[in-house]
Amino acid sequence: EKGTYPHYMLKEIDEQPLVTRRIIEKYRNENGGLTVDENIVNAVNAADRIYIIAAGTSYHAGLIGKQFIENWAKIPVEVHIASEFSYNMPLLSEKPLFIFISQSGETADSRSVLVQIKELGHKALTITNVPGSTLSREADYTLLLHAGPEIAVASTKAYTAQLAVLSILAAVAAYGKGLSLEFDLTKELGIVANAMEVLCDQKEEMEAIAKEYFSTTRNAFFIGRSVDYYVGLEGALKLKEISYIQAEGFAGGELKHGTIALIENGTPIIALATQEHVNLSIRGNVKEVVSRGANPCIISMKGLEEEDDRFVLPSIHEQLSPLAAVVPLQLISYYAALHRDCDVDKPRNLAKSVTVE
Ligand code: F6R
Repeated sequence: EKGTYPHYMLKEIDEQPLVTRRIIEKYRNENGGLTVDENIVNAVNAADRIYIIAAGTSYHAGLIGKQFIENWAKIPVEVHIASEFSYNMPLLSEKPLFIFISQSGETADSRSVLVQIKELGHKALTITNVPGSTLSREADYTLLLHAGPEIAVASTKAYTAQLAVLSILAAVAAYGKGLSLEFDLTKELGIVANAMEVLCDQKEEMEAIAKEYFSTTRNAFFIGRSVDYYVGLEGALKLKEISYIQAEGFAGGELKHGTIALIENGTPIIALATQEHVNLSIRGNVKEVVSRGANPCIISMKGLEEEDDRFVLPSIHEQLSPLAAVVPLQLISYYAALHRDCDVDKPRNLAKSVTVE
């Protein structure tokens, strides 16, 4: 039920603080620490390499999940687009574990990879929002997102739930190997939930940004470095699927290798600057596009902000920044679509779950 909300998408964006807190509760043990089914932790830690398989928004979550698992649990991870995996199957390691990320648990492209790797005798874990879904039933293990039903075609709360669950899985796998994180993940996820709440209360500001940058534009670019690049990919996907603006996400450093040719007077560039180690470089990229006439919208984080930034996120742990940085992008896409009279919850040509290959 969408209650007083005009659209499911807006309701689901607003549910993200609650979902994040619910995930912390669901994955908390009696001692207040985080916990994941022991069999799953053992399977992760028995793997010499993890293969994440997903599509669309779930693929974007996988790219960030790779960072969590590699940085914290020190297990190499490859992230693959499900539909490409079968033709371009990489040389598999000796003890692979496959992680399928799928909100619906019904994506045919992902299922076909699952069937293929089961035939090879490999183990699979599905991270899904839907208990009893095909990918959940057919995998060896399941981790649930606990995000509640996601009705809007454009995925929002499932994405941040995927990030939260992947972070917990990575942290618990690390603890299982005797590695420790430099911070308290439970506490930091709580700070993320609070930040999401602050962001959801800034809808007027997001609407103003949408109007300012996306009322009439034909195209838009999202740039970032490191995990901000991956958040940019998701921001671009959100914008294109519901507002039909041609949008692309690029790695800041890759711009000058071709894409910069597309910049014209007034082209909106959404630049994400939440990562201290690449802050100077991404700001250099913004200068490059501004000198070609682009209309920059810099979204930074408290502590890294500069005078010209259009929006500043509350301060959260740098490695978890995607969970908060995506929220303004979701809201901006929502308002851009609204102002362009698009059907926000049911964009043309799209279905909630893609059950054909
Ligand atoms: C984007 C979107 C799609 C899905 C993709 C995978 O907003 O909804 O890109 O993320 O079709 O779907 P699941 O996660 O159900 O496998």
